[in-house]
Amino acid sequence: MADVTITLRPNGPLLVTGPVKLIDTEGKEYNLAGKEKFSLCRCGQTKNRPFCDGTHKECGWAAVDVAPQAP
Ligand code: FES
Repeated sequence: MADVTITLRPNGPLLVTGPVKLIDTEGKEYNLAGKEKFSLCRCGQTKNRPFCDGTHKECGWAAVDVAPQAP
């Protein structure tokens, strides 16, 4: 099984690491040029969707997403 990790960065993007395919809304695969590490925007302000371009730092976007503790 592929070892993929998605990490929520504090007030920032989703950091994706591992061998994944990224598919658009029409079913076409993005050319990741062999990259196994990239960031997906979650602030909605990037000019390079779906990838983070760093704009979240300028627009003041903030998120508090903490996984709940296991019971
Ligand atoms: S999270 Fe970085 S530009 Fe949106």
